[in-house]
Amino acid sequence: MSRKKSLCLGLSAILLAGCASGGRRPPAVDPDSLYARLGELNGVARATDAMVNHVLSDPVILENKQLQQRAKPENVPGLKVQITVLIASRSGGPYQYTGQSMKEAHRGMEVTEAQWAAFMKDCADGLDEAKVPARERQGVLDLFASMKADIVERE
Ligand code: HEM
Repeated sequence: MSRKKSLCLGLSAILLAGCASGGRRPPAVDPDSLYARLGELNGVARATDAMVNHVLSDPVILENKQLQQRAKPENVPGLKVQITVLIASRSGGPYQYTGQSMKEAHRGMEVTEAQWAAFMKDCADGLDEAKVPARERQGVLDLFASMKADIVERE
């Protein structure tokens, strides 16, 4: 057998083995999941981008001294990735969030009730800017609301 032919057969075998094991096939996503309805990874990332931009330009949020030190401009792209993966993983997407727990990430930040209220308003505005429909907008806000007890530390 020529070298070319045997190389070709070898490659076909590898490709067939890959298909048979389903190794490269992305995991199925429930089309009714919040993740799917948000527009999967690009939709979640776009919404996160808009939400974080609103939050980080809000004077009420910027009053938080810890935030000023911890959310430096060079950390913002990574923060957006972490939040995107967190939302994707909690909304039915095929991702696993491996960052800090919400309690760990926000420990000692002394987030107040007023800052929390401002945060939720900024996120709602970001979701509107990203043109997220009403049901999905509420889904994201409900997801955040479920984490409040781990984040707010002060009256
Ligand atoms: C439900 C609401 C919130 C969610 C889902 C959320 C999510 C996250 C995530 C995923 C991280 C990254 C953790 C890591 O790097 O392992 C993070 C970090 C951070 N969050 Fe939040 N956050 C929320 C609310 C807030 C609020 C209200 C504030 C401030 C007022 C805030 C300020 C910060 C800051 C400054 C960091 C960076 C911490 C550091 O790297 O030291 N977050 N958040």
